Amino acid sequence: MRISDKPIAKRLVDLGVEIRPGVALADLTSLAIGGATDQLLIRNYDTLPEVMRELRNEGIPHKFLGGGTNVLVTDGELDWVILHLPTRQPGMQMQDGVALVDAAADLGGTVTFCAKNDRGGMEGLIGVPGTIGGALRMNAGAYGTQIGSFVREVQLYRAASNTNETLKGDQIRFDYRHTSFAPDDIMLRVKLELPAKPYKEIVAGIKVCNEKRRASQPLNQKSAGCIFKNPPGASAGRMIDELKLKGFRVGDAMVSDRHANFFVNAGQASCADMLNLIDQVRTKVHEAFKVDLDMEVIFWKN
Ligand code: EPU
Repeated sequence: MRISDKPIAKRLVDLGVEIRPGVALADLTSLAIGGATDQLLIRNYDTLPEVMRELRNEGIPHKFLGGGTNVLVTDGELDWVILHLPTRQPGMQMQDGVALVDAAADLGGTVTFCAKNDRGGMEGLIGVPGTIGGALRMNAGAYGTQIGSFVREVQLYRAASNTNETLKGDQIRFDYRHTSFAPDDIMLRVKLELPAKPYKEIVAGIKVCNEKRRASQPLNQKSAGCIFKNPPGASAGRMIDELKLKGFRVGDAMVSDRHANFFVNAGQASCADMLNLIDQVRTKVHEAFKVDLDMEVIFWKN
């Protein structure tokens, strides 16, 4: 969707929004799949309600993109614009043992920042790609750790009230790869409270997690992490592996030969290829195990 030549563009620019016309989502997502649209960079969070009012008044559909590491985007010209909060420097500060972090900050960078301040507990999250905002939204987790356990407060934009609000940690539900945030909430900042831990101990924990991840996950390939959620008490990766589907492909969309719940773009995969692969694997798992796999990766269609 192109808005840069419409009258609203000038009003958005006056609000401090930078408009990048015709950006390919393939360049902004870790799967490197997705069509093109205009991207709106919002640097001043306080202007969000006004920016959203403009978009709503003009009937311009929009989606919010964070790090792009857990999303599969449809091909071709997209029917919505992309909103994005660019990273601000430094984006993180420590106050009385509580980390105040921008949603646009890198998750791994935040774990390291906290470590340098002798605050630990999030070591398991070190290799999880993406932003703090994305991690919060889906309650990212790995190696027995999930980000929700450390959240003291979240500042967010709520579409329902068209205001920026602050929620206390106990006002938010964090479940397995799911939270009580509304789909159109936009994370702005978080206060994370981590227990005190010596830097050396945290670094040792980080090293162990990095090694485990390197040994089992295709880190150098284009993926969005695990494609399916694990069903209760089971591992999607193990089931897909047991069906000997590692390496199974549709065009350039392929089940990783390292971890079967990672579907990788092994070249120039289209969204249609990836959806076809997902569908076929889901059907085979259903036939063999009578289990319906739910997507963990979010699919953005037109
Ligand atoms: N397994 C196989 N074959 C495979 C993959 C896994 O047999 O191809 C077996 C493993 O040997 C192990 C079991 O399945 O016995 C579980 O594997 P793993 O430890 O890799 O964990 P997972 O359940 O597949 C989950 C998360 C990962 C997270 C790891 C480590 C989900 C959907 N996945 O994977 O998160 O990094 O645990 O904690 O919850 C993600 O969410 O995108 C993600 C990568």
